[in-house]
Amino acid sequence: MSNSSHEIRVCSVAELADIPMKRFDVLGRGVLISRVGQKYYATTDTCSHQEVLLDTGELEGTLLTCGAHGAKFDVTTGAVKGLPAMRPLVSYPLRVRNAELFIIVPAE
Ligand code: FES
Repeated sequence: MSNSSHEIRVCSVAELADIPMKRFDVLGRGVLISRVGQKYYATTDTCSHQEVLLDTGELEGTLLTCGAHGAKFDVTTGAVKGLPAMRPLVSYPLRVRNAELFIIVPAE
């Protein structure tokens, strides 16, 4: 049986020390890291409504509001919390190790 997922480094926690969210290109995937206090969450970086990048939006607690038309998502799960988006964001399991963030992605 082969391992069906792997861990990929995204960034260091220091890169989000002063900002609530930041986009990264992780092996061709757009990943948005959101920081809520000292906790970190990883989702896809693009709104499921009309493909707008989400780092132009606002993060309040765990609620991310898209800057384009106001769709809301829970960054802890990717779930939709407000229209006009209908589809959730892809959410990646995230691990913190030695002040570095890693996401777990399914094998291609
Ligand atoms: S593109 Fe995000 S709400 Fe429309």
